[in-house]
Amino acid sequence: MSNRKNNSSNWGPENPHPLSRLKTELVWEGKYDEYGNRRPIKLPSSPLPLQRIETIDEPRDREKAKQGSMFNLEGFIKKAHRDDFRNLLIWGDNKLAMAALLEQFRGKIDLIYIDPPFDVGADFTMQVQLGDEGEALQKEQSIMEAVAYRDTWGKGTDSYLHMMYERLTLMRDLLSNRGSIYVHCDWRVNSLLRLVLDDVFEKNLFLNEIIWAYFAFKRKTARKFPQKHDTIVSYRKDPDSFTWNTQYKAHKPEYLKRWKQDEKGRYYRDDVNPTKGGTRTIYLDEVEGDIVDSVWDDIPPVNPVADERTDFSTQKPEALLERIIKASSDEGDLVADFFCGSGTTPAVAEKLGRRWIGVDLGRFAIHVTRKRLIQVQRDLHAESQPYRSFDVYNLGRYERQWWQMERLKGADEEHRRIVLQFYKAAPLTSSTHSLLHGTKHGAYVHVDKIDSIFSFDELRVASEAAKAAGARELHCLAWEFEMELAHKKQTIEAETGLIIRLKYIPREIMEPNRTECQFFEAGYLEAKPEIKTLKEGKATKKFVDVALVRFTPALAEAPDAEMDALRKRAVISPFDFIDFWGVDFEWRDNKPFEHHWQDFRTRKDRSLKTKTDIGWEYEEKGKHQICVKVIDVFGVDTTTLIEVEV
Ligand SMILES: C[S@@+](CC[C@H](N)C(=O)[O-])C[C@H]1O[C@@H](n2cnc3c(N)ncnc32)[C@H](O)[C@@H]1O
Repeated sequence: MSNRKNNSSNWGPENPHPLSRLKTELVWEGKYDEYGNRRPIKLPSSPLPLQRIETIDEPRDREKAKQGSMFNLEGFIKKAHRDDFRNLLIWGDNKLAMAALLEQFRGKIDLIYIDPPFDVGADFTMQVQLGDEGEALQKEQSIMEAVAYRDTWGKGTDSYLHMMYERLTLMRDLLSNRGSIYVHCDWRVNSLLRLVLDDVFEKNLFLNEIIWAYFAFKRKTARKFPQKHDTIVSYRKDPDSFTWNTQYKAHKPEYLKRWKQDEKGRYYRDDVNPTKGGTRTIYLDEVEGDIVDSVWDDIPPVNPVADERTDFSTQKPEALLERIIKASSDEGDLVADFFCGSGTTPAVAEKLGRRWIGVDLGRFAIHVTRKRLIQVQRDLHAESQPYRSFDVYNLGRYERQWWQMERLKGADEEHRRIVLQFYKAAPLTSSTHSLLHGTKHGAYVHVDKIDSIFSFDELRVASEAAKAAGARELHCLAWEFEMELAHKKQTIEAETGLIIRLKYIPREIMEPNRTECQFFEAGYLEAKPEIKTLKEGKATKKFVDVALVRFTPALAEAPDAEMDALRKRAVISPFDFIDFWGVDFEWRDNKPFEHHWQDFRTRKDRSLKTKTDIGWEYEEKGKHQICVKVIDVFGVDTTTLIEVEV
């Protein structure tokens, strides 16, 4: 008692104890710096430039080729597109992507929905299907589970909260004054994220806590009430001027029974006319249903046979996004999802005529979203509805350089050490040769620099060094390989007798929560042009198509039985590994890959064409370069260039 008195003797009204002045706030390690100041968000001193790697406007290009140069393309573009805004799909860490977007989109995004990882400590898988057998075939033969993304933060709640705080702050800066944000949480993180949101947006900007009650299997053994809902919390940027459209529920079937249908199928009912007496006819489509409140129990999760299902394990139903997008945005508004997964938000935004930005760091997520959005474009176009084009971006070597500066403190050696560690290779300590950095199962390993493209010349020098050191096998690990190197390496293999493996350094090694990742071998692709000549009066017209000739998929390294079976299948039927392929008939260096034609497998339609059916007509005679891009079932690209003369 006397102790307490002594300790507190200096505190009082003139000198209040800090605890007496505390306000309610969530504090996590790292929120404040050593001086008690709020820690600023760590960002590059100038934003990293977004690299446009693909442009996708498929129906337009099909039409262009079909109609040839006589066609009034301008008119067609106007009719097919809502406007000339190009939607953005960005592959990379959303913190760097948002920092890059701020230049152009600060205060310009009208609605953000995010469904971030919940720090559940698990991997989320995606079903990968091979070939065209579909689901009829035995699972082990045609379907594999692959890790789509890793929700293992592994660094504790403090670091998870800091990661989310930084990102939510950037989202606030991107939101327009009419804008609002919806954050999808579950029981694990809802209490924490709500407080972080209070911090970033301020309490008075809170809009709703929505309970999305979905169907869930009730396990008898559970010693607590089974979990049956997620929580979605929403905030607005400005207390007064945010967009809001009241939503109504669809009428229940029991209610419909009380209505009759006219010859056009329209529901009606004769009712007492309250103003003039007698009866009047009222139509159901003019009667509003019940107002949607904050408990949403009318939206089931994506079911196993739903058309919209993409096999991405945390995919959210389109109906959920439809309600959010309709309530909090208008046609033409810009909607963003910075953890877009399988692309549910972009897909629904596109269908509802909103502009969109989607970001994800996962290879699968980008691949699934790309396919899904192309399908939406095709469907809208087939229904004579306007759509918007979209482009795929990444941050390329800039993202890697930032990682090297930030986390590896600029050291090339540290980069090499980490790559070798992930590759499970032993670093070479003795200086056998400056280009030989490690060994693995008797093979020498070369690690390319973080910002270079591994070239034929470098391969030759590394191979000579490996040969001189007595190696039989050389593994070259690089972020990028010179085009066609997987093909050209055969010359060096023949000259030196070495087995050469070219493997991509996976971008996942930059993720702070990773301890393992797969290195995919660079695939090999061969394609050939096919020219059809047609005489029209005195003129001769040439139409070009492209046929796939040979493909060796980019397999990862996993020495188990499943992988052995895959390797065999890759030799017997390599085209089964192709999930998507596209052709740019007007390829030039240093421009994004333009999708003039593409075909892909879907869950329902597993077939894949191996020859284009576009009949591309060039406006100018002479030589043209064609780029062919294949994306395999693991989401890895392989490209090749071919030349055609018309
Ligand atoms: C729960 S899933 C989203 C699912 C999505 N709502 C759908 O309907 O498919 C979360 C996604 O966040 C992505 N992600 C996690 N951390 C990220 C980061 N720092 N930057 C960008 N994407 C990230 C993961 O790759 C994953 O695809």
